[in-house]
This record gives sequence, C-alpha cells and structure tokens, in this order.
Amino acid sequence: MYIKENFTFSGTLDMKIIEELTDILESALDEIQGVVSLKDLTDLRVKYLGRKSRIIAILKGLGSLPKELRPEAGSASNEIKQKIEEALKHRSEELSVDIFKELGTTERIDITEPGISGERGSLHPITQLGMELEDIFMSMGFSIATGPEVELDYYNFEALNIPQDHPARDIQDTFWTVDGTLLRTHTSCVQVRTMEKQKPPIRVVAPGRVFRYEETDASHEHTFYQVEGLMVDRDISVANLIAVMRTMLREVFRKDVKVRLRPGYFPFVEPGFELDISCHLCDGKGCSVCKWSGWEELIGCGLVHPNVLSMCGIDPAEYSGFAFGMGLDRLVMMRYGIDDIRLFHSGNLKFLRQF
Ligand code: FA5
Repeated sequence: MYIKENFTFSGTLDMKIIEELTDILESALDEIQGVVSLKDLTDLRVKYLGRKSRIIAILKGLGSLPKELRPEAGSASNEIKQKIEEALKHRSEELSVDIFKELGTTERIDITEPGISGERGSLHPITQLGMELEDIFMSMGFSIATGPEVELDYYNFEALNIPQDHPARDIQDTFWTVDGTLLRTHTSCVQVRTMEKQKPPIRVVAPGRVFRYEETDASHEHTFYQVEGLMVDRDISVANLIAVMRTMLREVFRKDVKVRLRPGYFPFVEPGFELDISCHLCDGKGCSVCKWSGWEELIGCGLVHPNVLSMCGIDPAEYSGFAFGMGLDRLVMMRYGIDDIRLFHSGNLKFLRQF
C-alpha cells in the first residue's frame, strides 16, 4: 500500500506504475501550488493533462498491460487525473481572488461588454478655414510665413511707414507691454520681416492672431485672426491684387460673391483700399453684424508703399507689390452665417459642435 497525501494505491498494482503515477501527482501538485499567474496555470494544465502529458500516455498504454492489471491501473490513473484537475481549479480560484483583492474590488468585469468610447473633438472653425486658405493660396504659388505675436514697435509701426507720433498709430488701439514691446495689432509686421529676409519675387501669406485694445461687439473682438498676403515682383499692379482676391473668395464660397472696393487709408500702401463683402447674414439688407449697411468690411489692401519697400532694402523703382490683411473671423462668419464674433472664444460647446 502506498499513500500520497489523500491518495492511496492498493491491491496488486505494478510498482513501476505506482512510482510513475506518484511522481506525476507530486510534481503536478508542487508546480500548481507554485504558480502565480493564470497564464502559467494554463501552461501547467497543458503539461499535466494535455494530449502529450504523461498521464495520457499511461492511459493510452493500458492495453499493453496484463489483462488483470488493467482495471486497477485505469482507475488509479483516472483518479490522479481528477486530483490534478481539482488542484488546477482550486489554484485558479485562488489566483482570481487575489487579482480582485489587488484591485480592491470584488466586482467582476465583463470583458465582452462594449467599451465607453471617448468624445471626439473637432478643429475650431477658424483653424479649419485658416488651413483651407493656406491650401488655396499655396495653389496660387504662395508660401506660408509667420511672425511673433509679441512684437517690436519697429515691425508693427515704424517700418510700415508709421513713425513715432504719427496719427495713424491711434487707428489701432494697442496693448503695450511693460518693457515697451506690444501685442501686434495686425499681421502686417510679417510683411516687413519677410522682405528683410527675402528678395523679390515674393509671394507669402501669414495667418496669425492679433490684438487690439478695443470694445467688442457683434463684429469686433479684442483678439482675432488675420491673414496677411504679400506679393512683390516687377510690374505688380492693382489688377493682380483683384485677381488674387477674386480667386480666393470664389474658392472659399464656392461661387462668385458680391464685393466692393473703396478707397482706404493705410500708411503702408499707396493707393489703399477696403474690400467689403455683401453681408451674408442679411443678404445685404442690413443687420447688427454689418451695422445695417448691407456690407461687411473684410480686407484692407493696396500697393506696397515705396517707403516700405525702401526700408526693407527693395528698390521701388524696380519692384512693386500688393499687400492685404483679411479678417479671418469675419470670413468664417460670412461663410457659416454666424451672427456674433464673440461666439468664437466663448467656449460654447453647443456652438463649436456644429463644425
Ligand atoms: C489692418 O489691420 C491692415 N494691416 C490691413 C492691411 C494689410 C492693409 C496690408 C493694407 C495692406 P484693418 O484694421 O482694417 O487693417 O483690419 C483688417 C481686417 O481685419 C478688417 O477688414 C476686418 O476684417 C478685420 N478686423 C479689424 N478689426 C477687427 C476686430 N476688432 N475684430 C475682428 N476683425 C477685425
């Protein structure tokens, strides 16, 4: 009689089979007790009960034993197999309980349940149209330029033909910093920065954020976006300016839009113009956005002033150019029929989710 823990071999069973079965059971129980993960436990199940396991080999070999030994050897093997099954189950339960203990919960997770999907955001409409405009201008041969938002007086005013004490400084109310720099009031500074570095032919657009110390209303913000454009080459005229503006607007609105060009004063262009677009919110009939005029002021533009070209080291006798500064917020308003510019920075998700 041979006793191993709760298991007893009895009768006339061959000693070699007893030793083999005992060894299988002992090593299985030792290994099962020693594993710390369910994955390792699965490997042990394969090792001890799988098709190529020792116990299955014994069961398959029963036929070659003397007839009288077969029943006893068969039932002893099956009992060992069952013991191993029980040990595996017990250890599996122990390991599962430990995991939940570690998680500090007794809650079972149903991994087949559909997950909670995160909310998807979208690009701000100003960013979207800004990117679209970059593509439109690039298709016309323009490249993209940038400049700093905190700017020097020189680039925002002086080099744009607006010297100290020039009355035009008051046209755009300025946020000054304590060290004498300023928050750029327009993207026109990038014109100068570009012409300092690059000589004609020049074709650039510069989208960017600008700041003005002024009251807000339905069409005015203190922080808004402009897209500056600059083209300098030989024989550039107002006709080139109008052609580029027309193409851009047709691309943005996917149809011809009603515009008007009227004289405008900007010290850095001569002649200077204001380009207005027929108000899309009221169809030109008049509303709070267009101040009941039926027209929305969209773009300041003109031919680059010879003084500006000279200050940037470009000979005005040889080259000429056009420049424009477009209000991007207002363009987005016209495209989507948005009736208050202040919605853009309101953080209103109901508004933003529409884009
Ligand atoms: C300028 O800023 C000039 N730098 C434009 C320019 C560039 C002229 C190159 C000539 C050559 P103005 O202040 O008009 O110009 O602004 C240009 C556009 O920005 C306006 O037509 C308007 O569409 C937009 N804009 C101006 N002020 C505001 C504001 N407070 N809120 C929203 N958009 C504004």
